[in-house]
Amino acid sequence: MFQSFFSRQLARPSGLFGRLFTARWLDKANVGMNTLTLESLDLAGNDRLLEVGFGGGYLLQQVLVRGRCQQVAGLDVSPDMVAHVGRRLRRYVVAGKARVALGDIESMPFADDEFSALCSVNTLYFWRDPARALAECRRVLQSAGRLVLCFNSKHDMEQWPGHVHGFSLYELAEVERLIAAAGFGDITTRTAHDPVQGEFYCVRAVAT
Ligand SMILES: C[S@@+](CC[C@H](N)C(=O)[O-])C[C@H]1O[C@@H](n2cnc3c(N)ncnc32)[C@H](O)[C@@H]1O
Repeated sequence: MFQSFFSRQLARPSGLFGRLFTARWLDKANVGMNTLTLESLDLAGNDRLLEVGFGGGYLLQQVLVRGRCQQVAGLDVSPDMVAHVGRRLRRYVVAGKARVALGDIESMPFADDEFSALCSVNTLYFWRDPARALAECRRVLQSAGRLVLCFNSKHDMEQWPGHVHGFSLYELAEVERLIAAAGFGDITTRTAHDPVQGEFYCVRAVAT
């Protein structure tokens, strides 16, 4: 019972529990994955970054605190996370450096070529149609823009009982093939492991 509740929280954190527990838990549990994602993005001062599925907002805040980007945007399907992170990043939003929006990766409220870098950590499991989601990523990225996707290995996720409640799991080769089919090249993957999250992949690709 709690397992399915918590799995649904991970897919879309909501309510008081989402704000007070899930958002904080995500920020702590996923530090290793978010850190490797940031490294792989290799951001520069003129970058315009979009993070899809920001959860508690840890990665967005790290980028803003380090002042590594010209513009930072976030998109999430959870209205409660959009409100929570909007408050957390208020000073950057007011200064025009950051914006957070409600929406789904499969139909993003952004213009073609709007971003130079796009990342998404721990969201792939919840996409209804990965080919469509990746086509949207390609559309909003400018040519030569970087995409970084970070997700747990299928093998490790299968050891966790909560995965049966709404998680779709993929082999690395399948994800790399979908990324290539969506119009990306130069695909490189780093495999890492941490005590909280187990084995995970950080796949970086360049929009062709
Ligand atoms: C497991 S949390 C990961 C949060 C954060 N990236 C991290 O690693 O700590 C998944 C987040 O993605 C969001 N999400 C799930 N499906 C999504 C979709 N189709 N489009 C956009 N965001 C989505 C959820 O609302 C949630 O905030």
